[in-house]
Amino acid sequence: MVELAPSILSCDFSRLQENLDDTKDTRLKMLHIDVMDGIFVPNISFGFKVIEDIRNRNDYFFDTHLMIERPERYIERFVKAGSDRITFHIEATDNPREVISLIKSFGIEAGITLKPATDPKEILPLLKDLDCVLVMSVEPGFGGQSFMEDSLDKVQIFREYIDKNKLDTKIEIDGGIKTTNVSRVIGAGCDEIVSGSDIFGKDDIKKQIEEYYKIFDQAKSTCRD
Ligand code: DX5
Ligand code: ZN
Repeated sequence: MVELAPSILSCDFSRLQENLDDTKDTRLKMLHIDVMDGIFVPNISFGFKVIEDIRNRNDYFFDTHLMIERPERYIERFVKAGSDRITFHIEATDNPREVISLIKSFGIEAGITLKPATDPKEILPLLKDLDCVLVMSVEPGFGGQSFMEDSLDKVQIFREYIDKNKLDTKIEIDGGIKTTNVSRVIGAGCDEIVSGSDIFGKDDIKKQIEEYYKIFDQAKSTCRD
């Protein structure tokens, strides 16, 4: 089953919980939480306090995407803030294996991600130890950018490797996803779909989430399950 992970980066932060309440009573299970430090990416989003506060009021699986330099410094704080999975950038650390072990030592899921210019082959040897690989389909740092078509090639590379080696690592995609391109992304082999502006930028957030799940249902017959 394909899952949707709406990115709260596109919420109106003056009405954050109201936006999140608009996602309730749908099939939604996950939220995507983008943390940016202004160094690894040229933007700053939010930190622990925001995550802790929404953790207290929302039962979703918290999928935290760290766009921060040397993520090893803050893993414990993001676990304590309420993350169910932490995904970090391979470009942001000298010791990706140690970061994976550190995340897993807290009993939560570990994910890795890569910028569009990074060779996916760097990730392949790590996949067996990961719960998720996140393919960035835009340059990390901002919501609302256009989908990069060549990210589908990366999804296929990961899909082939995961299937060939019988791994259960999930493939997630992030950036520029809309109801108009999500079927192709699922067809390429994605399990989890991040979408920000195409969900929280809409007037009817609940209806838009339902639209996504309808498309996932239609794609089901053609994708693996
Ligand atoms: C970008 C973030 C994304 C972003 C997606 O650095 O990682 O999660 O919020 O937003 P859209 O769906 O608007 O491209
Ligand atoms: Zn993200």
